[in-house]
Amino acid sequence: RPRVLSGIQPTADSFHMGNYLGAVRQYVALQETHEAFYFIADLHALTVTPKPDELRRRTRIAAAQLFGAGLDPERAAVFAQSHVREHSELAWYLICQTGMGEAGRMTQFKDKSARYGENAASVGLFTYPILQAADILIYQADQVPVGVDQKQHLELSRDLAQRFNSRYGQTFKVPNPYILKEVEKIGDLQDPTAKMSKSSSSPQGILDVLEEPAALRKKVMRAVTDTGSEIVADEENKPGVTNLLRIHSAISGVAIAELEARFAGQGYGALKKEIAEIVVEAFGPIRERTEKLLADEPELDRLLAAGAARARAVARETMEQVRDRLGLLPTP
Ligand code: TYM
Repeated sequence: RPRVLSGIQPTADSFHMGNYLGAVRQYVALQETHEAFYFIADLHALTVTPKPDELRRRTRIAAAQLFGAGLDPERAAVFAQSHVREHSELAWYLICQTGMGEAGRMTQFKDKSARYGENAASVGLFTYPILQAADILIYQADQVPVGVDQKQHLELSRDLAQRFNSRYGQTFKVPNPYILKEVEKIGDLQDPTAKMSKSSSSPQGILDVLEEPAALRKKVMRAVTDTGSEIVADEENKPGVTNLLRIHSAISGVAIAELEARFAGQGYGALKKEIAEIVVEAFGPIRERTEKLLADEPELDRLLAAGAARARAVARETMEQVRDRLGLLPTP
């Protein structure tokens, strides 16, 4: 079986619809066909120094949501990144293979450091994509399901794998991004040309998976639309409606062309009303399962421990080879 791996940060009290449609749903689908490894990127979350209690809480919420969304602990190894220490170790080795200029070109770092102020941004934020490369390469992953915002980081992972292999001999599999075009960038409901994001300016633009139905409905009904009244997908002139059609189609499975035909002659309100209902229907069961798991912390922690054990077995094997290739003495 080919291997699939991905990670998600515990930086909010809920995943949002972008995380869910752009990534988590693919995690669930791919566990059927791949040997699957999915982790909560708590080490990546440390780059912005969260409060310790908040990080602990959010890491458990993230884990519970992954199971709530349909990951099966029998099929997928779901774990906390920090529980497999080899991630940090490989990150250091890869940091030593990365050029300053290469790391400096990462656009997500540039965006984030601009937000914090260049001198306030941590060195961790700068080396973030290299830790991400370590996450991926350590499992010899074939496919990495992500949204399009991670594409550049995936490119770096591929470059680092190839560079290491050519310097030290074949060691890492070169990973492929797994990006579904239709959901690669879910837009903010209030600012549809921007991606839906945890750091977005207004909560009105974000649909959280764990949100109450009433709040979800309200936000969908208030989503910005475009001039005119026709319901057609047109990225250039109708980014709001296009985003809504994409969301509908992704959840309902109905093709966008078919939705356009079905809603012909109707107003934006009709489309939004239907979306509100299918979103509530899709998120409700996830929320219920998530809450149930969160109420049983020992069980949740047991599941994470089992996931980490499976992940560690693979990570250890890669790392023994890596250390040897680099010329480090065998660990006594
Ligand atoms: P993170 O936690 O920001 O997001 C988790 C996943 O959700 C996707 N995503 C979106 N997809 C479509 N539309 C959106 N609006 C949207 N917003 C977020 C992201 O692309 C991502 O797939 N660096 C990663 C975490 C990470 C990782 C890894 C991923 C750490 N190590 C190794 C893959 C492999 C991140 O911050 O994702």
